[in-house]
Amino acid sequence: MNPQSGVFASTTTTAGMITESVLASFQNTMDPRTKELLLAATKHLHAFATEVGFTTQELLRLAEILTAAGQISDSSRHEFLLMSDVMGLTMVVDYLTNQKPAGAHESSVLGPFYRADAPWVEMDGDICRQENCGTPAQFSGRVLSLDGEPIPNATLDVWQVAANGLYENTDPNQPNFNLRGRLRTGNGGKYRFWSVKPVPYPIPVDGPAGLILTAAGRHNMRPAHVHFIVGAEGYETVISELFTVDDPYVEGDAVFGVKESLKIKYVLHDREEDERKYGRPIPFYTANYDFVLVPGKTKQEVAFSAGRA
Ligand code: BEZ
Ligand code: FE
Repeated sequence: MNPQSGVFASTTTTAGMITESVLASFQNTMDPRTKELLLAATKHLHAFATEVGFTTQELLRLAEILTAAGQISDSSRHEFLLMSDVMGLTMVVDYLTNQKPAGAHESSVLGPFYRADAPWVEMDGDICRQENCGTPAQFSGRVLSLDGEPIPNATLDVWQVAANGLYENTDPNQPNFNLRGRLRTGNGGKYRFWSVKPVPYPIPVDGPAGLILTAAGRHNMRPAHVHFIVGAEGYETVISELFTVDDPYVEGDAVFGVKESLKIKYVLHDREEDERKYGRPIPFYTANYDFVLVPGKTKQEVAFSAGRA
């Protein structure tokens, strides 16, 4: 009995009371950031369950989906990240972490196919390491500071799919480190290398990320892109991608990675004089892009490096 009111106190537990109890249970969390994350996760997860009227059946199904995500993951497959990618969470985190001043090269998703320690490639070298990787393309441009000063000795770490839409580490028919390479800029901050014009390709749908896409009637294609990690001493390293401006999927990337400033044009060269000028059989493409870096602490660590299947 409530001594003040003289009536029995209600024994009904509300969702709000449970939330309060859970929040109180985390009050002694030692690490401040862990505490902040646990408190916010509690508030938002409970609010989510309340908003949608989450059922016990659905909670069990979610547990099964998360278990399946763990089971399908390995050194070259990170299903939780893929789920984050298709939900747009990766790009929200990218936005929160990597805001750049106007004119600076913008960041995008790392993706699950990055491999550290790709072979170094000389100026004008070719990262296609087999007979035919696709239609050749020469990439060139400069690495510059925000005020337009060239940055020599900057590094570019590059990787992309072959014409069959596969990264070499998921395709036993491609040689080790095919279409991957690291380069350094020369005088004037210039870089130049040969590769192939990238093609659009599907992200894996045989795991829980695929369940999400299928349930939503969404496609699983990424627009054609080349991945770059660009860094230089005294400048912020940028993890990013360059997208083909007229790709059919450029406005509908399955993982929301496209930014306006990251779209590039490929120029087709199919005349005999092009063959003489570039010393390459026609047809081939050229693409030009300047990477503009922001002064700051060089962040060398990349969160994830895939293995080779
Ligand atoms: C990729 O471009 O390599 C990629 C990015 C996110 C999810 C899947 C693939
Ligand atoms: Fe990719």
